[in-house]
Amino acid sequence: MVIDLTGRTALVTGASRGIGREIALALGAAGANVACVATNETLLGEVVAKIGKAIAIKCDVSKPPEVEAAVQKTVQTYGGLDILVNNAGVTRDNLLIRMKEEEWDTVLTVNLKAAFLFMKIASRPLLKSKCGRIINIASVAGIMGNLGQANYSASKGGLIAMTKSAAREYASRAICVNAVAPGFIRTDMSAKVDPAVVEQAVAAIPFKRMGEPAEIARAVLFLASDLASYVTGQVIVVDGGMAM
Ligand SMILES: NC(=O)c1ccc[n+]([C@@H]2O[C@H](COP(=O)([O-])OP(=O)(O)OC[C@H]3O[C@@H](n4cnc5c(N)ncnc54)[C@H](O)[C@@H]3O)[C@@H](O)[C@H]2O)c1
Repeated sequence: MVIDLTGRTALVTGASRGIGREIALALGAAGANVACVATNETLLGEVVAKIGKAIAIKCDVSKPPEVEAAVQKTVQTYGGLDILVNNAGVTRDNLLIRMKEEEWDTVLTVNLKAAFLFMKIASRPLLKSKCGRIINIASVAGIMGNLGQANYSASKGGLIAMTKSAAREYASRAICVNAVAPGFIRTDMSAKVDPAVVEQAVAAIPFKRMGEPAEIARAVLFLASDLASYVTGQVIVVDGGMAM
């Protein structure tokens, strides 16, 4: 079976670069209309131009009115919403003893609360879809924890738990709700990590390399497709064996 998402509409947050960009490109290449959401309009414009059947929506996912407007614009443009991908995420790494409340709040708001807002606000159009999918981008940090990432790990662990609760709530409407947990992936986010720490982290990965954003996008494409019609409440870990 070839993956064909023609006629379906996807909304991808954090679609301007990194993993979100690859997810948007993969869904677009499979035929979906893609609403690309992020804060950087210039980068979003490039992604949208590459996809073709796509729109750029400038939106800070931590602001509820902007989330509402993003969902509304998607539904107005394409007449519905079938696939929601909560990918936008940030880090504010610090050891717990030094972590500022602001660092905690920012990470929990963007990585966890925004996903809740999108799931809640998009639930009406998703419930109308005959092939509804919610895919949340978590992290192996949400499973294993990580030094200097109490805030980030808590947000991703929370996202995994929320994914499972939503999977139970939406099962009666055949909406599949799943998470993808990437390991160490080559993006702007991981480029902020100290090279010595990167070397140590890569040495601990059975595949002995970082992952590429496109390798995460492929797992999302599977979950978004009809191939995953009986998969819900799951976390697909894509990490070269890091968290097994
Ligand atoms: N790179 C990794 O190693 C890795 C590992 C595990 C999980 N992840 C997760 O994958 C997702 C994507 O990460 P990435 O590595 O591509 O990061 P990135 O920093 O390259 O991209 C993050 C994206 O999120 C968007 N974003 C951030 N804050 C936003 C806000 N307030 N409103 C709207 N958009 C916002 C940015 O504009 C950008 O498009 C994140 O949820 C991240 O936690 C990444």
